[in-house]
Amino acid sequence: MQFINIQNERLSTIGIGSAALSGDRHAEQEAIRYGLSNGINVIDTAESYGDSEAIIGGALKGIPRDQYFLISKFLPQHATPDLMRRSLEGSLRRLGVDYLDLYLLHWRENANLITTVAELEKFKQAGLIRHWGVSNFDTQDMEDLLTVPDGDHVFANEDLYNLTSRGVEYDLLPWQQERQICFLSYSPFHAVGWNFIKPATTVKEIAHEHGVTPQQVMLAWLLRNHNVLPLPKAGQISHVQANIAAVDLVLLPADLSRLNTAYPAPTHKVPLDKI
Ligand SMILES: NC(=O)c1ccc[n+]([C@@H]2O[C@H](COP(=O)([O-])OP(=O)(O)OC[C@H]3O[C@@H](n4cnc5c(N)ncnc54)[C@H](OP(=O)(O)O)[C@@H]3O)[C@@H](O)[C@H]2O)c1
Repeated sequence: MQFINIQNERLSTIGIGSAALSGDRHAEQEAIRYGLSNGINVIDTAESYGDSEAIIGGALKGIPRDQYFLISKFLPQHATPDLMRRSLEGSLRRLGVDYLDLYLLHWRENANLITTVAELEKFKQAGLIRHWGVSNFDTQDMEDLLTVPDGDHVFANEDLYNLTSRGVEYDLLPWQQERQICFLSYSPFHAVGWNFIKPATTVKEIAHEHGVTPQQVMLAWLLRNHNVLPLPKAGQISHVQANIAAVDLVLLPADLSRLNTAYPAPTHKVPLDKI
């Protein structure tokens, strides 16, 4: 596994996603434990992911708390002081931990950024979270965030980013990189609702040439600049193994150029894609 350093946190270059867990609970917990014992230390979940927090909590039993970086999220409709505390306490209880490493506002909606950040800072001071961040924020949302008191303490923004959804490359990615704000990329295979990317022939050809799968090409492509941290969800060990192996897959300049032709980079600002 390779690691990146963000604000003194040593994070594995890929994490473990967890939307729509609860197919085969036992297999999913095994897959999470396999990932953690093979170098992944970032796990992403949310209060809104059904049983995912409880399933992850079961998988984490017995693993020393400092061995993983645990992310959860609260809904914007819970972004009031009372409801945020209730959300956080619920996530901690289901996950079976005393603190989160990163707590994200799941999307902006009508959340009051001033009071939300103030409450997140209180959680931090109380030792209930180590960092806070946001999700589904576009560049203007991030600019707005930086204008509120302590808004510049934001650790991460988690957004949709994959081969078919490259809008963030135009301005948001460089904007975050300049400020050392971690970019977590969700749905690397665009698979929510099982609506996978249908890999273009180019992806299949490149996969064939490297002796890997199209999904491994998609992950290696996301990792090409070392400035995003993808969060693939995998409910089976074989998929976790493949995703870990993809970290060492280096795409050639010619591969990248063929992928650029199949999935062109943005040439102008496009609104942030969301799932
Ligand atoms: N912040 C947000 O608003 C937001 C929104 C969406 C997602 N997310 C986060 O991002 C995570 C990932 O996104 P996602 O769940 O939408 O989908 P995804 O990671 O793009 O795709 C997951 C699907 O890919 C399969 N898969 C995993 N590794 C594979 C491999 N190596 N080869 C072939 N198939 C593979 C999984 O199968 P198996 O499960 O059968 O292994 C699952 O069906 C979520 O779980 C969640 O943590 C965040």
